[in-house]
Amino acid sequence: MTYQEAEKKCKEAGQLHLLKFYEELDDEGKHRLIKEIELTDFDMIKRADGQEQERGKITPIKAMTREEIWENEDQYRKVGLEAIRKGEVAAVLLAGGMGTRLGSDNPKGMYDIGITKEVYIFQRLIENLMDVVRAADRYIHLFIMTSDKNHETTMDFFEEKECFGYKREYIHFFKQDMAPATDFDGKILLEKKDKLATSPNGNGGWFGSLYNSGLDFCIHEEGIKWLNVFAVDNVLQRMADPVFVGATIAGEYVSGSKVIRKVTPEEKVGTICLEDGRPSIVEYYELTDELKDAKDEKGEPAYNFGVILNYLFRVDALEQILTSPLTLHVVDKKIPCINEEGQEVHPETPNGHKYETLILDMVHLMENNLPFEIEREKEFAPIKNKTGVDSVESARELCKKNGIQL
Ligand code: UTP
Repeated sequence: MTYQEAEKKCKEAGQLHLLKFYEELDDEGKHRLIKEIELTDFDMIKRADGQEQERGKITPIKAMTREEIWENEDQYRKVGLEAIRKGEVAAVLLAGGMGTRLGSDNPKGMYDIGITKEVYIFQRLIENLMDVVRAADRYIHLFIMTSDKNHETTMDFFEEKECFGYKREYIHFFKQDMAPATDFDGKILLEKKDKLATSPNGNGGWFGSLYNSGLDFCIHEEGIKWLNVFAVDNVLQRMADPVFVGATIAGEYVSGSKVIRKVTPEEKVGTICLEDGRPSIVEYYELTDELKDAKDEKGEPAYNFGVILNYLFRVDALEQILTSPLTLHVVDKKIPCINEEGQEVHPETPNGHKYETLILDMVHLMENNLPFEIEREKEFAPIKNKTGVDSVESARELCKKNGIQL
């Protein structure tokens, strides 16, 4: 892209201020800035503005309960293990987040939750995946999504720890795409005179980023048909769980979600439901009193199951929605940037917007979804905060209850 083309693109999008310091830059800086302008999706900001906010008609979805799973567990496990043994199932670890609530400078997975020895979050996840590797007697491909902000640190950590005993050739790293950050008026902020302020584009970007990185070749070459996607921060997370995989395949679903029975209707997890007849997830803050109070035919809460960010998707179903736009979520954030005078600013309060897409919105694009109930105490120990709810402390307690030495 030439300077003139960049100027035209910026002008049309109302972002001409991005070129304010252009003349002060050396040749390398000029080249970098023009490249960034070329590669940045300006339309996204407009799209976020004009988005439809109305939701469709929400109705309950039927979950497969623990009792139903127990009745057919052996058969589901057999079907799941068969698919895993054929190499049809891979795992995708979402580790591109910033982990701001935990407040560590390092990627969240590098957090050590050990007490008497080192036990890193990444290590816990690999240990759990190894249970399946042993049961299936074959390694499972593991794709790890990082971001521009933590890619090298994450990769170096895995090398240093020798992948916690996992076979290196089955681990594939890829970077998620970045999105521009703006002030509250939608003007893109500059991080430096030659650099736009950007942030990871949210966990909904995982499949597009996986394909943009060229790993679709590996998926097809290896005959991978299912991707089990999960969050980094649940230290009891069970990936490629043969029973979950088997139940989804046996029921001829194109996707599945691990869900927990909510403790109260207000619990801060997304609730799985149907929206205009398709699977969908309503965030806890969107759940109306009417939905919270609704009961099913057994008198139990009709919207009783929350998602834990552990989804299974059929690859061909994902490929069909590869170019479908996901809802953009606009979040207020503290964004380090430079001001009009070119001086660095490190804001104490939010000074702008970050734009994210969320994986939970992908569920709504699926034809169907199996909500698969898990035992909360055995599989759900998220670490979001340093102390209190969903913290290192609460996760340690749950690890202990499950006989995991820390
Ligand atoms: P969270 O929504 O908890 O975000 O991510 P976070 O960035 O880790 O933490 P906070 O909100 O800043 O405290 C849920 C999962 O999605 C991944 C995270 O790494 C985590 O596994 N994620 C989130 C990404 O991979 N990319 C993103 O852009 C955002």
